[in-house]
Amino acid sequence: MDQHTKTLLDIDRETVFHASTHLSQYADGQVPGRVIASGKGIRITDNAGEELIDGFAGLYCVNIGYGRQEMADAIYDQAKALAYYHTYVGHTNEALVRLSQRLIEMAPNNMSKVYYGLSGSDANETQLKLVWYYNNVLGRREKKKIISRDRGYHGSSIASGSLTGLPLFHAHFDLPIERIKHTIAPYYYRRIDDAMSEQEFSAYCAEKLEELILAEGAETIAAMIAEPVLGTGGIVPPPEGYWAAIRDVLDKYDILLIADEVVCGFGRIGSAFGSLYYQMKPDLITVAKGLTSAYMPLSGVMVSDKVWQTLRDGTDEWGAFGHGYTYSGHPLGAAAANCNLDIIEREHLITHSATTGAYLQQRMAETFAQHPLVGDTRGIGMLHALEFSPDPARRALFDPSLKVGPLVAAECLKLGLIARAMPHGDILGFAPPLVATRQHIDLIVEITRQAVDNTLDALIRQGVSIR
Ligand SMILES: Cc1ncc(COP(=O)(O)O)c(C=O)c1O
Repeated sequence: MDQHTKTLLDIDRETVFHASTHLSQYADGQVPGRVIASGKGIRITDNAGEELIDGFAGLYCVNIGYGRQEMADAIYDQAKALAYYHTYVGHTNEALVRLSQRLIEMAPNNMSKVYYGLSGSDANETQLKLVWYYNNVLGRREKKKIISRDRGYHGSSIASGSLTGLPLFHAHFDLPIERIKHTIAPYYYRRIDDAMSEQEFSAYCAEKLEELILAEGAETIAAMIAEPVLGTGGIVPPPEGYWAAIRDVLDKYDILLIADEVVCGFGRIGSAFGSLYYQMKPDLITVAKGLTSAYMPLSGVMVSDKVWQTLRDGTDEWGAFGHGYTYSGHPLGAAAANCNLDIIEREHLITHSATTGAYLQQRMAETFAQHPLVGDTRGIGMLHALEFSPDPARRALFDPSLKVGPLVAAECLKLGLIARAMPHGDILGFAPPLVATRQHIDLIVEITRQAVDNTLDALIRQGVSIR
């Protein structure tokens, strides 16, 4: 094929190393690709003109929806005035100052400062360095291990990928690194003992956490990191009483709590932050995604006053804080975040997410609670998951090689809807832009119902036993 007859996708297969992709199958043209050309509201359009409803807001990040002129203008205006200057040794820019003041006002009231990066992964790397430095200032040189959870997702760099608790992100990459330990996920649907209430299961999770702390030695555990609602690990809201029980254990052993709000922050679950909704009382908070609705890359680490005071003491003793990225506090990211927060406020998108989200939960539950292929429908706000089972009454698992989650996602796509087959288990995830209306939700639910029915028929035709 000569250069003129090659399509964009041909060139893409030759030159782009894609994230989370089967490399050989994609390069060899065995799996489809798609060139995304534009987006408006809750829809994206590819370069062949096909329009899709984005039921996952990109990667749960385009909270204000696609194609906002106002966002493009804010970024353009900032680029004209000052596209870049660094934030080392006291340099700053107005967009960044305004943003930081606003974030501290929105956050739980013990938060004091914001450190900026570009992605959720790099922000969680920063978290670990802050926690290690913090304990060095306090002279607790052994107190360095971090507890994360099975099914947690915190990124895919070396440290953040180690925090992630999903096999796909560890196997063959020599992860996790030392000092990172995992405790059980608060996954009530998959509890071992059917008779356990949610409260009892939460107490059991807290017991397991305490067992791990004692087995490792409390003097070696610095922090726990957790998403308020498990996201990529299966979209699992915590069972009743979970966060109070966990916080008690952490307090008992003087262990910091890092709330990873990369998905939950800025309205996804119908409140400004998941840690406010669940009263987690974190010491540190990670934000990204919804901070700019992904119009520019920007992440942040919010640091509580308690941690800040200790970090300050460290620099009094050891000099400047040796941690910085060229793009920390990038003015274009800050301008995008300010405009995004203006839109969220003006359009009341957090309360809209709570009410429309409640409608999403209700419509999914009434449509799928009795469906022969659906074991669980769960979620909060504009986050929802359907978990598939060949025998819902027994919460049985499908043979993973059937790839039932991806099959349903593929059926949705044929019908014009993007829903995400979550990477671990037969789980289909939904996280529409927060601007979705009830009519959009009805459409998403209706397309999903058809897709799940089609998958059920296909599995029965293949001879798969469904009870
Ligand atoms: C909770 C959470 N933390 C961190 C990350 C990593 O963010 P990024 O992909 O921007 O590095 C993600 C990404 O999905 C996430 O869901």
